[in-house]
Amino acid sequence: MKRRTSVIAIDGPAASGKSSTAQMVADKLGFLHVDSGSLYRAASAAILRRERDPSRWTEDTVLDAAKPVELRAARTSFYPVLDGRSIEEEIRGPDVTHHVSRVAQMPRVRQWVNGKVRETANSRNVVVDGRDMGTVVFPDADLKIFLVADSRERALRRLRQRGTPTSEQLLDDETIRIKERDARDAKQTVAARDAVTIDTTALTQDEQVAQIVALAKERSE
Ligand code: DC
Repeated sequence: MKRRTSVIAIDGPAASGKSSTAQMVADKLGFLHVDSGSLYRAASAAILRRERDPSRWTEDTVLDAAKPVELRAARTSFYPVLDGRSIEEEIRGPDVTHHVSRVAQMPRVRQWVNGKVRETANSRNVVVDGRDMGTVVFPDADLKIFLVADSRERALRRLRQRGTPTSEQLLDDETIRIKERDARDAKQTVAARDAVTIDTTALTQDEQVAQIVALAKERSE
C-alpha cells in the first residue's frame, strides 16, 4: 500500500552534519526528525548496562537488552527512551560511541532499527537521518539527500561542537578518528542512486538547510 505521509531521507558519513541539518529541515517544514543512529546508540547503551565486555555480546543478547527501547514522539522529533526514560546523555557518551559500530554490524539489530524507524512514518511526515535511510529503509522516500564533507572539515566541526580549543594536533587526531569511523561504517554508508549529493565542506549550515528545503518544496509541487 502506498504511504500517505512524506519522508525526506538524509544520509552521509559521521560528522557530516546530518542530524542537526535534518532537525533544522524538519523544523522548517513542520515534519518530525528521526535520528536512526540514536536507536543503534540506545541498543548499545542497553547492552552495556547488562554486560560490559563487548566480546560476549551476541545478536540475541543485544536484541533482548534493547526490548524496552522505544521511540517516542515529542514536539519536533522522535527520541529513544529506555524503560520509559530519556537516555540522551548516555547515548552520546564515549562508551556508547566507542562500541556502537559493533552493534550496528548485527543484521538483526539493523532489522529492528529499520522497523522502528519505518513505524514513525506511518502517522507523521518525517525527516530521517542515518546511513541507509534512502537505500534500505525508505527506498521510496520523497527526497533523498546524501551529505558529504571533507574529513578535516568534519573533524573541525566536531571539535567546535564539543567546545574544545582547536590545535593542529587535536585536529590531526580527530581527523584520524573520523576516517576510522568512516572505514567501520563504510559498508552501510552508500548514496542511493536517486539521491542528491551535497558537498557541505564550504557551506554554512543555513545554506545546506536552505538547499534541502528548496528541493523538498520543488518535489511536493
Ligand atoms: O550517526 P551516529 O554516529 O549517531 O551513528 C551511530 C552508529 O550507528 C554508527 O556506527 C553508524 C551506525 N548507523 C548505521 O549503521 N546506520 C544508520 N542508519 C545510522 C547509524
